Amino acid sequence: MNPVELIRKKRNGGALSRQEFTWLLDSYVAGGVPDYQMSAFLMAVYFNGMTDEETSTFTDVMLHSGVVVDLSDIPGVKVDKHSTGGVGDKVSLILAPMVAACGVPVPMISGRGLGHTGGTLDKLESIPGFRTDLTVEEYRRVIAEVGLVLIGQTAEITPADRKMYALRDVTGTVESIPLIAGSIMSKKLAEGIDALVLDVKTGDGAFMQKYDDTVALAKALVAIGTNAGKRVVAFLTEMDQPLGFTIGNWVEVMESVDCLRGKVIPDLMEVTTVLGGAMVWLGGRAESIAVGMAMCHSAIWSGRAYQKFLEIVRRQGGDTSYLEQPERYRKPRHVVRLESGSGGFVGGFATRRIGVLATELGAGRQKADDVIDATAGIVLKKKIGDPVQRGELLAEIMAEKADAVARVRDELSACIRIDAVRPVLPPRIRAMVESDGVKSWVTPPLI
Ligand code: URA
Repeated sequence: MNPVELIRKKRNGGALSRQEFTWLLDSYVAGGVPDYQMSAFLMAVYFNGMTDEETSTFTDVMLHSGVVVDLSDIPGVKVDKHSTGGVGDKVSLILAPMVAACGVPVPMISGRGLGHTGGTLDKLESIPGFRTDLTVEEYRRVIAEVGLVLIGQTAEITPADRKMYALRDVTGTVESIPLIAGSIMSKKLAEGIDALVLDVKTGDGAFMQKYDDTVALAKALVAIGTNAGKRVVAFLTEMDQPLGFTIGNWVEVMESVDCLRGKVIPDLMEVTTVLGGAMVWLGGRAESIAVGMAMCHSAIWSGRAYQKFLEIVRRQGGDTSYLEQPERYRKPRHVVRLESGSGGFVGGFATRRIGVLATELGAGRQKADDVIDATAGIVLKKKIGDPVQRGELLAEIMAEKADAVARVRDELSACIRIDAVRPVLPPRIRAMVESDGVKSWVTPPLI
């Protein structure tokens, strides 16, 4: 086979066969197809898409580019959650230990930062010593012993996604339904789960900004998982403002620790508790999502979720003393404040742009070999609808690079809209998608 012919076929709107995908991805992983040819292929997919059949073949070939883990000897229904990517999306850090503390085993394979969105792996690796590169054997041992494991794609598990994900991050080829679906579902089907909860983001800070595209992505993800014999539900959640207050790596770990210790940040904890409740329900520990949500709350309030987080950090080599005494952590060299130039109410955020600015501070990558600055980030002080006075603090910006901090401060002020009238707040969770269709969602009150 010839990589140029496969690129041309996709460029001209053709559909690749299983044999062609297998050859292309195997050759790419082995180094026979270089990044520049894969980039051209990915851009052709971005513009021409894939048929449904092609998307499932692509996912299956990605899945079998490495080991497919079998966890059937480990008791319990294994359930994971994956997000399509957002700004300030630290849900996994709170949710995984919370659900594991409810007795549902959570094997989680996460990604790094992608485009303007942050990645769970980069956040976890900001904890000194934390290892996300476990071998398959270590992965099995940790989930069996702790009921939770947090790793990334490795040379053994979905190596095709690992390599392609890093390439998509820096080639403007993230926002494609078949590429996102293949990337997420290959990782999820490789990790040995029985069921999956998906957080499909919609709005300015999501990869799919139009609601109809979000619904199409959610349906594609649910269909791939269901056809593979897994129970899958997806929630369509708003990404019109960063989730919680922090955007970065260490700052997001710290905000997650606060929530695990009982702090209630309404948007972050609503999404975390609903997704967690659905996982506990799919895991067979609760008769409904509402009961699962109540169990998740109790895991937080009792301190069990936080203890589980400390346990997994320790088990994967992380130094928990930095979580318990954050003042010991390296301080960012430069911190600047952004104050409001006018009074009124926060009317909206340019969320995608804020994600890009965090990347420019060093919280994400602009080139594949960029090194993350764990302390770089933005801490917002307000959410949509909050009253603001002229001169009041809107955000703090921090990083090692002085020039980036100053530039981002100036740009950030244009990303926060102040209105004279308080805006109407839209629901944070818009719908739930199951294999039989899209259903409206209203978050139930706690039981
Ligand atoms: N998360 C992934 O793992 N892959 C994508 O392509 C987008 C979000």
